[in-house]
Order: sequence, then C-alpha cells, then structure tokens
Amino acid sequence: MKQYLTVDEWSIIEEGFHAEYNQITESVFSLGNGRMGQRANFEETFTGETLQGNYVAGVYYPDKTRVGWWKNGYPEYFAKVLNAANWIGIDVQLDGETLDLHLCQVTDFRRELNMREGWLDRRFTATLPSGKQMRVESRRFTSIVDYEVGAIRYSLTPLNFSGTLTFTPFVDADIKNADSNYDEKFWNEILQEAQPTEGYVVAETKKTFFHVCTGQRFVVTQNGQEVNVQATPVERTKYIASTFDIAVQEGQETVLYKYAANLSSENHPKENLLANTKKVINAATAKGFEQLLQEQAAAWAAKWEESDIVIEGDATAQQGIRFNIFQLNQTYTGEDERLNIGPKGFTGEKYGGTTYWDTEAYCLPFYLATADPQIARNLLIYRYKHLQKAIENAEKLGFTGGAALYPMVTMNGEECHNEWEITFEEIHRNGAIAHAIHDYIRYTGDDSYLGEYGIEVLVGISRFWAQRVNWSQAKNKYVMLGVTGPNEYENNVNNNWYTSTIATWTLEYTLKALQHVQQTNPGRYQELVSKLNLNEEKEMGQWQHVIDNMFYAEDHELGIFLQQDGFLDKEQTLVKDLPAEDRPLNQKWSWDRILRSVFIKQADVLQGIYLFEDRYDLDTIRRNYDFYEPRTVHESSLSPCVHSILAAKLGDEERAYEFYLRTARLDLDDYNNDTEDGCHITSMAGTWMSVVQGFGGMRVRNNQLFFNPFIPAGWSSYSFKIRFRGHLLTIKVTREQVQIENHADKAITLNVFDQPQTIEANAKAALAHQNA
Ligand code: BGC
Repeated sequence: MKQYLTVDEWSIIEEGFHAEYNQITESVFSLGNGRMGQRANFEETFTGETLQGNYVAGVYYPDKTRVGWWKNGYPEYFAKVLNAANWIGIDVQLDGETLDLHLCQVTDFRRELNMREGWLDRRFTATLPSGKQMRVESRRFTSIVDYEVGAIRYSLTPLNFSGTLTFTPFVDADIKNADSNYDEKFWNEILQEAQPTEGYVVAETKKTFFHVCTGQRFVVTQNGQEVNVQATPVERTKYIASTFDIAVQEGQETVLYKYAANLSSENHPKENLLANTKKVINAATAKGFEQLLQEQAAAWAAKWEESDIVIEGDATAQQGIRFNIFQLNQTYTGEDERLNIGPKGFTGEKYGGTTYWDTEAYCLPFYLATADPQIARNLLIYRYKHLQKAIENAEKLGFTGGAALYPMVTMNGEECHNEWEITFEEIHRNGAIAHAIHDYIRYTGDDSYLGEYGIEVLVGISRFWAQRVNWSQAKNKYVMLGVTGPNEYENNVNNNWYTSTIATWTLEYTLKALQHVQQTNPGRYQELVSKLNLNEEKEMGQWQHVIDNMFYAEDHELGIFLQQDGFLDKEQTLVKDLPAEDRPLNQKWSWDRILRSVFIKQADVLQGIYLFEDRYDLDTIRRNYDFYEPRTVHESSLSPCVHSILAAKLGDEERAYEFYLRTARLDLDDYNNDTEDGCHITSMAGTWMSVVQGFGGMRVRNNQLFFNPFIPAGWSSYSFKIRFRGHLLTIKVTREQVQIENHADKAITLNVFDQPQTIEANAKAALAHQNA
C-alpha cells in the first residue's frame, strides 16, 4: 500500500515527483472519454520508467496465442487492446539540450488530475545538466464534448537564461504493445502527411485492418500573442512532426497549443478518414484551447450532476468514490452498443479483450441506476449478438444442440483466453450473463426483453449447464466436475458451490421466463420453441430433474456451504496469520503453494450469497461470511466490494467501511501492488455498489425500491442519485435522517427500513433513522 497522493475531494494530486511510482501515477491520472484514452505520460521525452499508452475504443489486434503446450479447444489468438499512436508528444530542447525529467533536477513538481472539470495538469521547475533552469506548466484533456479531440497547453519559461527553444510536436504511430506475444508491432503505415503546422498519420492494424488517423495541429504564443514560427515538417515511418526554433528570453513564457484528433474506421469510412480528421482538427483549432476547456468543464459538471456521490466529513472516502465514478464515466458512455467495459479501460494493456463477466456481475447495476435504461439494455444486447459465437465456442469443447458457453474474455464474441483452467473451466461466467437478464428486468420492469432477446440467451446457457453436469451413481445426484469458481486460486475442483448454484438458478429462471412468455405472448413463445428447436417435455423436463437433484457441497456441522468438495481437507490457516512479506500471495508464492492453500482470491461462496441473498437467513449468511472472509486475501479487485455489501447487511458497519475504503482507494493507494498495469475499472462499479447497496442498503423487490441505510462513523452525511422506472431520486443519509427527494412528475412508493413510503411528485420526505 502506498499513500503518496494528496487527499482532496475533487482532485488527485502528486506533490513532488515520485519517479519510483511513475507508472502507477501514469495509470491513476489517465484520461479518457469512452472513445479514446491515454495514460498520464509526459509530453516531452522521458527516459525513466514509463509505460507509454494510448488506446482507441474498439480497435484491437488478435495476437497469436502463445502457450507452452497446446490443448484442443484453445483459441487461436488473444485479442489485445491496442496501444495506438502517441498524440501527446512534444520534444523540447534548449540550446540543443533535451528536456528529460529523468536526466535533470526537478523541483516544485505537481501533477493534478482534476475530476470536477476533467483535465490533467503538470507543473515543475527543471534544471538541465548545463544548469539552465525553466518552469514548465502543461494542461491537457481528452474532450467529452468532441469525442475525437484531445488538446494540450504546454508552457515554458526560462528562469536563468535566454536562448533558443526547439519545440517538436509529433504524432508517433510506430508503437509496440508491451505485452506483444511475438515482439511484433501491430500497426502498418497507410499514409502520412506533414506540413509546417499540422500533420497526420493513418495506420492500419495487421490482421484486423482497422484504420486510425491521428492528426495534430499547433499554435504558438509569446506574451499572449500568436507567433508565426518557421516550422520544418519531418516524416519517418509511421511518424510525423514539425520542428521549429524560437528565441526565448529569461522570464518570458512561450506556449505551444497542440490540438490532436484520433478517428477510427469504426466510425468513419476508411476513404474519408484523413479528410474527416482534418475537419475535426480544424474545428478544434478554431474553437481554441480555452473554449474547448470550458466546454469540457461544463460537460463534466453535467455528468457529476447525474452521477456524483457526495460524502461529508471524510475527504479520503470522498476522493475515493469520485475517482471511481470519474474513471467509469471516462471508460464507457453506453452510446455505442459495439463497445463494452474493459477491466483496465484506457489505462493499461493488461487483460487484453474488453469484455469479462465483470460487466454483468459488477458494472450493470451502476449503469442500471445512473443511466438511461437503454444503456443497460445495450450491454445485454451486446451478449445477445454474440450468442452464435457462444454456441460455436461450446461446440469446440464438445457440447451440442445449441448449448452456449460465453467467453471468459472477448472482443467480438470469440473466446480469446487461453489458460485451460480458466478458458474451459471458469464457466460460472455463463451464469452471470443469465443473471444480468434477471437483474435488468427486475430493475427496469422491461419484461418484453425476454421474448425479444432474453429467452434465446437463457436457453443457450441452460442447455450448456444441463450438459455440463453428470449423474453420479455414488452420490445419487448430479455433480459438476472440473471447474474453476470465481476464486481463481483453486482450479479443476469438483462441485464448486457457486457454479452449481448459479447453474441451477439459471435453469429455474429459464423455465420461469419461458412460462412467462408463453402466458403473455403465446405467439412469440411458439416462434421461439420452433426457432430454438426446444423439446418442452424432454429438454425442459431434464432441466427440472437437474434442479431437483443437484449436489451442493455443504458442511452441516459448521453450517456452511463448501466452496468445493474437500475444502475442509485443506490446512485451515487464516489470512491474519500470514506474514506481511508474503503478500500479495500471487507475487510471492509459487502457484502450487497457492493452489493447495486455503487462501481465497475473491468472493466465491460469498459471491453466490450476495447474488441470491433472499434465499438465506441472516444466520446462514453470517456463518458463511465468518468462515470465508478470514480466509480471503482479496487479491482480485472485485473482492472487497462484495464483502463490504455483505458486512453492511450483517450490521458490521466497521468492516463494511473498511472494505469500502479498500475498494474505493484500491488504485489510489495501490493496495494490490499492481496499479502500474492500469486501473481496475470494472471493480470501480463495485465501489459504487458498496455505497448504494452496502451503506444505502438499496434492493429491488416486487417492483419496488427498498432502502435500509446506515451511515459510517465519522461521516456527517452521504447522498447519491438513482434513476428508477422514470423517476430520478436523491437519497441523502445524515446522522439523524434519511431524506429522499423525488425529482419526477409522478409519485413513487418505496420502502425505507421496510416501511412503505409514498413520496409525491417533486417532493421530499425525511425519515428518522430506525435506531436514532
Ligand atoms: C479476476 C476475475 C476477473 C478478471 C478481470 C481476475 O483477476 O479473478 O474474476 O474477471 O480479473 O477483472
């Protein structure tokens, strides 16, 4: 855990240059707008530790799979989020000497990510080896108004000399992914064009043939006046620049404004890319930096108006939640149904792909409650469109008859994960996709989704589960062998309780959903039966047989569900007894030692209890929580939020808060020692859940909202906004009251502390805390 960032409610601030943490800071201070994003790399040359990263949404490369021992069923490639052209680059030289913070003395360094207005700022004084000293201030942003535009204001003032400043703004598409399997570059050059004050590179991805045009244009000022510079265009392979000298005086500020654009063939015809990029750049230059920045601030203000969570009395917690909401809004805007939410968003390369079960299990609730319902629906339809690929994926593994296995990692519906214990065995992901349909309908009430899209996905997944179990003579039950549960620190186990539970839940839900469509829309039901070739008696009968006869590992003496068969055979040690130097286990222990140990990476049994809590009484939940949490190392970012919500449900407010802080500040404090690879974007939605579902106790039951809030010690209040079936509500919890404001033109009936309350249109209600 590292605590080098300054606590501030609206900004993330680094005071003093922490070169040793630079790659972490680069991840945390990343900028994005749903279409593109980049790490907080420096504009000028930096030869110290850095991971240069620019990413364009939807543009990927299928890197040929590299494994030691090929297994039938492995995917041919691993789809990688592509590191794309560097558009921020500005080389700086003073009388021929390069400004490079790795090689000079740096003082008064300050980096700020301003979340309220959406910009990144960096200021420092540098003393070059020659003794020349200068003040540099740079500010940049990726526009959330003009989605293809980025802009930089780069200012330099000599402090103890006058001389010649050489600026070389550039675009460099000669980029390599740090995680390239065969050390190969993924971009080919299509064309480039350099003129004195502007330039463009069009590059094409190998194999997938995406085109991306990246352009730049710049304006220079001194004493606030635009200066005409004599710049020389430079062209190299996949690289353009303009270089110019300008005389600078001691104490005089020179500013370079750089306007850049990234346009991809996902959104423009290839033949128009260059011309359209020029248009976008010209429009941005005409607006100018200050106007673009004002528009950016206004657009962020509107986003915050909808999705902010305000915590009074705890700046650390406030900064944490705003950072999470900020990064989520930077990653996915929901407007483009082809896109999804990558675990690292635009902040790093690790994990490739864009879509994991994280989307359904963690992100969906955030978008359901904070965005237009169409956005959550788009996330579901994304999977509907991949159904055929999921069926083919299951066929590769030997399943038949329309059984569907959705991929663990995907860009286009095809599986691209290639570790057998995850690709073939971590099949619980299929359940999360079924559960998301239920979650969406429960929240929005839009049950027409079932007949339109949902049933087909549910039937495909149910067919998979029905084939994946087998009858055990010995147990006289169905069993599910050779699986990996959410806890990836166990592989190839039998009867993982979570997977078996979500499998039979899916079968039950599918049967109910079919019945619902049959009753409400018999014509559509018949169409679906014939389209899916569904044998009502035989196939649905077998699903019911599996539901009625499934084996679940349990220990009756301890009164707990067992994570898998034989879990109690493990040496029962606890996390609190682990030496600090052994953590995180995944960086310190051999894989063999991890697998045999009792230690749990992330919620597994508890994930199931979280999803299906209404099935269990509080004592059952407590016994399982008390057993599993002390064995959990939370080395997946997805873990603390679930534990926070369960601790809140069990009334353990202290632990709920502790886990909240851990999920909210996971990247800010680098809890798991891995933020340098990128931020944990998908788990950030879990942070939101831990406030709304954990502290706020929000649930949806029988078409109504329920709140059972408490307020963490030390907070004077917190508030959040949610949308629910045409209403916009603000929920504010103070130490004395729960205040609910209904911003809609119609009344709503909801439940606070299990008491029904009707809040009239555009009205507010205040209720005393139950135990106040
Ligand atoms: C977790 C998975 C998760 C993946 C991407 C892994 O470390 O164990 O549950 O899907 O990260 O976030």
